[in-house]
Amino acid sequence: MLDTRNALNVLFVLTRTSNNRSQIFLSEEKLKILAFFSFCVAKITMSLKLFSEFTLKHFNLKNRLMRSATTSYWADREGILRQPIIDYYRKLVEGGLGFIVKGHSYVLESGKAHEGQSGLTSEKHLPKMKVLTTLAHEKSVPIIAQLNHAGYSSIVERITASEYRTAEWVAREATIAEIDEIVEAFAHAAELALQAGFDGVQIHAAHGYLISQFLSDRVNKRTDKYGGSLLNRARLLLEVFDAIRKRIGNAPILSVKMNCDDFAPVGGIQIQDAVIIANLLAEKGIDLIELSGGGPEQSRDLRKQRGKPAENSPYFEANFSGHAETIRKTISTTPLALVDGFRTRRAMEAILTADVVDLVSISKSTICEPDLPKKLQAGQTRSECIDCRLCLSKERFGKMMLSCAQKE
Ligand SMILES: Cc1cc2nc3c(=O)[nH]c(=O)nc-3n(C[C@H](O)[C@H](O)[C@H](O)COP(=O)(O)O)c2cc1C
Ligand code: SF4
Repeated sequence: MLDTRNALNVLFVLTRTSNNRSQIFLSEEKLKILAFFSFCVAKITMSLKLFSEFTLKHFNLKNRLMRSATTSYWADREGILRQPIIDYYRKLVEGGLGFIVKGHSYVLESGKAHEGQSGLTSEKHLPKMKVLTTLAHEKSVPIIAQLNHAGYSSIVERITASEYRTAEWVAREATIAEIDEIVEAFAHAAELALQAGFDGVQIHAAHGYLISQFLSDRVNKRTDKYGGSLLNRARLLLEVFDAIRKRIGNAPILSVKMNCDDFAPVGGIQIQDAVIIANLLAEKGIDLIELSGGGPEQSRDLRKQRGKPAENSPYFEANFSGHAETIRKTISTTPLALVDGFRTRRAMEAILTADVVDLVSISKSTICEPDLPKKLQAGQTRSECIDCRLCLSKERFGKMMLSCAQKE
């Protein structure tokens, strides 16, 4: 069976064997072979599920490759996007992605996660956001905004579900009035996102930020209606969901990024909780659930041990794919995406073919190669990202617009 890599190798040889280095000259016979192999490459990639269309509500996604929210340090002090972000998104939308989630924006100044984070709190944020959504729409790529409150990780004011202490800081418990304000802030941010031209929003309920902190019995020790049972701990998420839906109506995409496991040494969200949360969201008619995992309290060992499918699985590289299999068994009609660890076209194709998820979500690979989707479609078999995580290092993330340390 012809493989696209072989086909590309032959093309390479054909061009190298040409006599003239500046002008590639091919004999008629070579041209026929070239045409044959081009046909094979096109045939193989066209038949991949990865490059099949997907209808998300009434939005047509040209393929199953989604860019997971990936923030940068590059908004100004007021949370307004600066030019390097817009330039980066230009590359992204030209790179062939089917769907984009913009990096998280804070919904309240007090819930800001890091310097240079973008905001969606007032009309001052809209003009630059509009430039970005226009870019995406010019290339027919649906784009949504991710909304977040950092909770105890805020650089402005640390509040969370209940008082929470580490050796370095204390976060105080949010009052009911503050919870109401946060719910309203999410709804307001969603309204602003739509005004800026986004096709919908994603609630960030993963990675140990505020909503994830409320979900976790490790952090949330409240005794009121927001604490105790999982249903109570999920109340903030569900209230935010309902408030946004009410504010923006049914037409735009409403998604949640959630942990399928916090991988905390004790307590926290585990797969059995994630199944329940995902089902609560499905019952509410959510448009897309993106599954992720981990956060500041995760144990790297637990991450390695749990959430993987059988070792011989063709999508073993995808972290949490075992968890995704479990969740999919209980949710058949709600669109699912999975992020974390996808690097090869083979694994992406395999998990889609197995119907575990509908979309494959990628982040660091798009820092490394914003045009990865096009390259995969042209025959490249894997991302060049080697997962060194240097793009996340303080020096790099704090000083440069998203860029790959291995590409210099
Ligand atoms: C620079 C950087 C910024 C990120 N920003 C966000 C973010 O704003 N929101 C979010 O949910 N995840 C964020 N993530 C996590 C990614 O979306 C993704 O879950 C994670 O990188 C694993 O996927 P990957 O293996 O494809 O990189 C970020 C990751 C990186 C490397
Ligand atoms: S710096 Fe490392 S982890 Fe980041 S995109 Fe480049 S190769 Fe991937």
